[in-house]
Amino acid sequence: VSDGSESGSLDSRQWALVRLGQYLRSRGYRFVTPTPETHRRVNGRPEGAVGTTARDIFGWSRPFRASQLPPELIALCQQADVLSPVADHGDHDGDQDGKHDRFTSKVRFSTLTAFAGDYLFVHSAYPTAGADSVFFGPDSYRFASFLARTVWKARRLVDVGCGTGVGGLVLASRADQVVLGDINPGALAFAAVNAALAGVSPSTVSLQSSDLLKQVEDPFDVVIANPPYLVDAARRLYRDGGGGLGIDLAARIVSESLAGLSPGGQLVLYTGTPVIEGEYVLQSRVQSTLAERATTWTWEELDPDVFGEELSQPAYSQVERVAVMALIATAA
Ligand SMILES: C[S@@+](CC[C@H](N)C(=O)[O-])C[C@H]1O[C@@H](n2cnc3c(N)ncnc32)[C@H](O)[C@@H]1O
Repeated sequence: VSDGSESGSLDSRQWALVRLGQYLRSRGYRFVTPTPETHRRVNGRPEGAVGTTARDIFGWSRPFRASQLPPELIALCQQADVLSPVADHGDHDGDQDGKHDRFTSKVRFSTLTAFAGDYLFVHSAYPTAGADSVFFGPDSYRFASFLARTVWKARRLVDVGCGTGVGGLVLASRADQVVLGDINPGALAFAAVNAALAGVSPSTVSLQSSDLLKQVEDPFDVVIANPPYLVDAARRLYRDGGGGLGIDLAARIVSESLAGLSPGGQLVLYTGTPVIEGEYVLQSRVQSTLAERATTWTWEELDPDVFGEELSQPAYSQVERVAVMALIATAA
């Protein structure tokens, strides 16, 4: 995996994460990441308190005892620096010969089946409370599935706000070049690991630290994006879409992509929009930009109602629902 801006190769921790992913895959590991709310409810059951299997540990992010896992798995976890000690609340039964034995994994591994095969993505553990947490979830699955049926060929494809790299990596076999861009260095570090796990040739994929497309070099003929689209008081990079209704980044993606794409190039944007009194707020917001900078465009409503729990927040007091929309626009 090459890095457009810096060194180029994976460091020893990243290689250890690749080996950990390969180990899990070789043992038939599968885990589909649900919404945080589902995760919370499932882990809240009595059997959700302690992890014993690989799915419990690397999927459900449950605490576990290192002494109960195969030594080779623990060695891989140590090399990848993914063990986070869990306090034993003074009962000392977590200590083995004075050594700390209870941990959670700092990372999750999720599987995704797409047209070109089975993928494994490493991302942040649950709960994703940190501002720089690296996202992977139900939106990533819907995004990948939408891309698989809409993007057929690209010369130089840019995945804006790539997170784990899911969008660009599932399309890698249909593109000559893939640029995975993100503003979060942690996302780019995981995306590099995921590219190696996907077996994508380092000559095909590059990583770019970038605020949307600002640091991405021309030319590019396809831009794909699943950006943050919510109002997030904690200002998490993967969640906070900016502005009063969380749609500022998506609006920027529409105007900056259409300005940067080669003529005839395509923007494929997967995102959420608040709906107020039946009006799709993002659609209205970018209408004039599309009329100015695109020759054709289509909107598709992929899910009429997501993140319903957010509607109790003051920022959403006028919002009746949040809909997931996909925009395909051709640059003038
Ligand atoms: C909702 S996550 C989606 C990640 C990935 N595309 C997926 O489908 O799983 C949004 C991503 O956008 C990134 N992001 C937020 N603001 C950005 C910006 N100004 N420029 C580039 N990336 C940004 C975040 O770091 C995060 O990785």
